[in-house]
Amino acid sequence: MAIPSIFFFALFLLQHHLAFGRVDLNANFSTNDQNASWLSSSQEFAFGFRPINNTNLFLLAIWFDKIPDKTIVWNADMSNPAVPSGSRVQLTQSGLNLTNPQGQSLWTTELQQDVFYAEMRDDGNFVLASSNSSYLWQSFNNPTDTLLPSQTLDMNSKLFSRLSPTNYTKGRFELYFDNGNLSLAQIGWPSESLYTKYFDISTSSNQSASQLRFNSSVIGGQRAIGLSSSDLDVSRYYYRATLDYYGVFSLYSHPRGSNDDQIWSNVGYVPDNICNAIYSDMGSGSCGYNSYCSWDNSTKRPTCMCPEGYSWVDSNDKFGGCQPAFSFGCGADDARSRENPEKVYEMKPLPNVNFPLGDYERLNNYTRDECEKSCLYDCNCAVVISNAAKDCWKKRLPLSNGRIDLMEGLTTTLLKIRVQPLKKKDRVQPALLGSLIGSLVIIALLAATVVSIILLKPYKVARRVSSFVETNMHSFTYQALKEATHGFSEDLGRGSFGIVYKGTLNSITKTTVVAVKRLDRIAPEREREFRNELNAIGRTCHRNLVKLIGFCDEGVHRLLVYEFMSNGALADILFRQPKPVWNLRVRFALGIARGLLYLHEECETPTIHCDIKPQNILIDEHFMPKISDFGLAKLLYSNKSRTHTMIRGTRGYVAPEWFKSVPVTAKVDVYSYGVMLLEIICCRRSLEMDRDEMEEGQAILIDWVYDCYMEGRIDVLVENDKEAIADMGRLKKWVMIAIWCIQENPETRPSMKNVMQMLEGLIEVPSPPFPSSFSSKVHGSQPWT
Ligand SMILES: *[C@@H]1O[C@H](CO)[C@@H](O)[C@H](O)[C@H]1NC(C)=O
Repeated sequence: MAIPSIFFFALFLLQHHLAFGRVDLNANFSTNDQNASWLSSSQEFAFGFRPINNTNLFLLAIWFDKIPDKTIVWNADMSNPAVPSGSRVQLTQSGLNLTNPQGQSLWTTELQQDVFYAEMRDDGNFVLASSNSSYLWQSFNNPTDTLLPSQTLDMNSKLFSRLSPTNYTKGRFELYFDNGNLSLAQIGWPSESLYTKYFDISTSSNQSASQLRFNSSVIGGQRAIGLSSSDLDVSRYYYRATLDYYGVFSLYSHPRGSNDDQIWSNVGYVPDNICNAIYSDMGSGSCGYNSYCSWDNSTKRPTCMCPEGYSWVDSNDKFGGCQPAFSFGCGADDARSRENPEKVYEMKPLPNVNFPLGDYERLNNYTRDECEKSCLYDCNCAVVISNAAKDCWKKRLPLSNGRIDLMEGLTTTLLKIRVQPLKKKDRVQPALLGSLIGSLVIIALLAATVVSIILLKPYKVARRVSSFVETNMHSFTYQALKEATHGFSEDLGRGSFGIVYKGTLNSITKTTVVAVKRLDRIAPEREREFRNELNAIGRTCHRNLVKLIGFCDEGVHRLLVYEFMSNGALADILFRQPKPVWNLRVRFALGIARGLLYLHEECETPTIHCDIKPQNILIDEHFMPKISDFGLAKLLYSNKSRTHTMIRGTRGYVAPEWFKSVPVTAKVDVYSYGVMLLEIICCRRSLEMDRDEMEEGQAILIDWVYDCYMEGRIDVLVENDKEAIADMGRLKKWVMIAIWCIQENPETRPSMKNVMQMLEGLIEVPSPPFPSSFSSKVHGSQPWT
């Protein structure tokens, strides 16, 4: 008889231990309590109140408690989730009851049976259990926008995206079951009417789906978004699958452990490119109305932009759409602008942007001029699209589903904008002017006071820094940058020596989107790196260099604040399908050469970049290339143009002299530029090992190019790129320039100045020699010395 009693005792202990994540009846807390949460026994998940950024409101939610940003995976009541400070949640016999400070009920779980206890489980499920431990209610059965491993979405359940990163109200996208398919669609917000779906998540075989189980081998959420279950490593990573507020269903992973530099990475998502996927007459698309959308492959999310003459409806919500900053002249008192529209409006080309929907007229046999005019004289017309076949599509507001379309080339998008300044009667009346000036003075005084208070703290830091750098850069506190990046929550990728995060700086007059590079800690050489980078970029100012806005040098924290480049890195544009059109590539190559020339010869402190490659070239919203990441820059001081240094740079782009004991000069950048110029011409990487269709001898780009050049087969380098082939004169010349740049002997390479002159056709391009003839000096005419 002794054995069973020991057994029962052990069972009792086990149950007692389990009770750690358990919550007893009548337990309660309010938003004001110290520990406003109930933890799971592993302490990985918590149920309780989370404050909502920049408000005095709270959310009743479940979150990953060991992750520094406390990522929320569930919240109560998607129709009205924000509750005031002082609200309270209580576990009663009839379930959870959320009440406001006045004691009125805001949300409850409505249950038929009595609740006995609740439990925050280690898998992230919060459950209400009956006396026999069966679950009466589970957060897993009432999902919001996120699924966790082992969670199941049933045929009658849905996921709704949230409205914005910080607004947890039900948003504009829905994931639901449709006749055995799992589908994504926009909804007629705030109702639940479904618009044309934009994606079906394919289920295995011809079996129809009735469940989405995160982890299942039958219809796995992770398989649907491009991973097999063996790819999930739950011992080392947390996972979640979230319907993002911009309509993408993404699988994210986050390393376990408490290193606060870790972040969520997107490891799989559908659809491929949300900007192109949504195509529905109703609804605005991923970005709001009147904006256009660009998929950023490095951050795996869309970027939204306003066309010229339009501004954000809400400058804090870049997915909320744009509005024209002028009137189109259809109103009753707009007679004057209708009389002479050509003086009032202008049709501006919007390169690489397409608005595929919203046509209200299609005119045949209209030249581009006639098409423009037709729009100018029509107050309903906002945009026209004209093509070589003389079709003219007229579009009205609101424009929807606008997107970047690099393949577009045979069609032209023309946007109507207002050029004439406002008429007299629209101007501010003199009587008003007086009081306006008065209030402006007061505002200016107030602003000056605020600014001086804000600057008081960073001033100390700034003064110390100014001993080694004299610039007009702004010095930020760590706290300010932490807030600007929402606690370093949105990473844009990794640069040399640190992760780059997206952030926004709000000043009295405007909101600026920035990229904040947080340099890794520890190594002392980073210190020098920081100062180098600050010194090098702080003094530069050129439209082909990324602008440094400011820095933070506080305690152990070293951060750099740059302007944000909405089109990501050149590498993302260059190596994806469809490839960017030839004209755009020409523009990239010229812009980068100008930036390098400036760095080498024209700026106050000549600088060698040392790591020129497509990942370090960023593309702004107007498709202007900008050189970034001066973290490896080796400064060239006035009388010292050669310099020894340790090996820097990236394989495939580094000049051969890095591996020899010869001094390194600005010619290393010329080499890297040459490699990159070939990549820009051919739209392929300098090293390509695993392409099936590749013939022998093509793996190393520079070797293949030289062979083709010698055999006079330049056209194969650009495959079937008609535009490039039509520009054969330039194409051939540029291939020759690139071969000059990749000469093994640095002295044989041209300077960036010569490269620029050759690219622009100011000097002839002689026939280049075989690149790796290090010993043999080139004889004969060489345009540079
Ligand atoms: C979230 O958005 C809704 C709808 O626009 C709005 O009513 C609500 O106030 C917002 N909530 C917060 C916390 O900003």
